[in-house]
Amino acid sequence: MQVFKTRKVVNTIEEHFQEILQGKKPANLYNPISYILMQPGKRLRPQLVRIASDMFNGDPEQTGYIAAAFEMLHNFTLIHDDIMDKADVRRGQPTVYKKWNGNTAILAGDALAVMAMQELLKLKCDPTIILDIIDIFGKTAVEVCEGQQYDLDFETMDNVSIEEYIQMIRLKTSVMFAGCLKAGGRFAGADKESLQALYDLGIHLGLAFQLADDLLDVYADEAVFGKAVGGDIKDNKKTFLYLKALELADETQREQLRTLFATTPEDEKGKFLQVKAIFDAVDVRKATVEAIASYTERCIDDINRIHTEEEKKAFVLSLVHSLQSRNK
Ligand code: IPE
Ligand code: IPE
Ligand code: MG
Ligand code: MG
Ligand code: MG
Repeated sequence: MQVFKTRKVVNTIEEHFQEILQGKKPANLYNPISYILMQPGKRLRPQLVRIASDMFNGDPEQTGYIAAAFEMLHNFTLIHDDIMDKADVRRGQPTVYKKWNGNTAILAGDALAVMAMQELLKLKCDPTIILDIIDIFGKTAVEVCEGQQYDLDFETMDNVSIEEYIQMIRLKTSVMFAGCLKAGGRFAGADKESLQALYDLGIHLGLAFQLADDLLDVYADEAVFGKAVGGDIKDNKKTFLYLKALELADETQREQLRTLFATTPEDEKGKFLQVKAIFDAVDVRKATVEAIASYTERCIDDINRIHTEEEKKAFVLSLVHSLQSRNK
């Protein structure tokens, strides 16, 4: 990858994780942490940190600590998210709470969140920059929890609006992307306007990303997606697909959808097929793809507001476009 000019001398994130975990005990705390960190995730958040830092010529080796911190924070949220969502498979492997148990998963997540923050204390740069990055990181972590609580609250609410849904995913997903880009930019000394543009880019990219995640949760090929299809329907999650389908549905379909989302039946597959039939009938897939495209458009405006070289803008734009039609 061209933007990583000094890639050869910089440790990979996996090497870095191995170093951090070397010789740590007890095994039942650190094995689950190592298990999730070494899985083949997309590593999107560290990539965003690096991209933003590289735009302003930040030192790649130091940037690695920020990249690691955000990937660790992300993985902490996943360990706990899978407990909350009762999800058995992630990245094609059993989730931490399934492979071990709930208590171990809670503790592994707790430790990982704090270890993530400690990565930032390893930075060797102006202390005011470190404080700013810790501030961005801390705000991100708390806002993700806020979003996750709204996500849970909405499971048992039947009057969630699309606007409320967007606020919820802005918190649970977008602020992490925005935090990665802003922290990377702040480390490398980006100007105020560029930092705001990087943050906005993260928000819009995150919204598009979560809409795609909602879409994949119904329409993905499980083997590629690495997560169980139908998980959101099982949990009565108020996803974009559900809310938009309610809007597009006729009175009968709307009543059916509401009834289906008021229960958690034994026959998960039957519920999934009934919901999917309504989603198909109102072509909610098309509406979701359009919404993803519209947030992607907003990313382009944000990228244009960053004060950096055109080739670096083109690089991040290609990443944004590649995510628009992702299948995992
Ligand atoms: C999963 O994020 C959580 C969401 C915000 C949808 P990713 O899809 O980036 O997960 P990994 O890290 O690639 O597995
Ligand atoms: C992801 O929401 C939000 C966070 C993990 C913070 P989801 O619950 O949709 O994520 P997946 O689909 O389990 O990865
Ligand atoms: Mg969730
Ligand atoms: Mg989940
Ligand atoms: Mg999901």
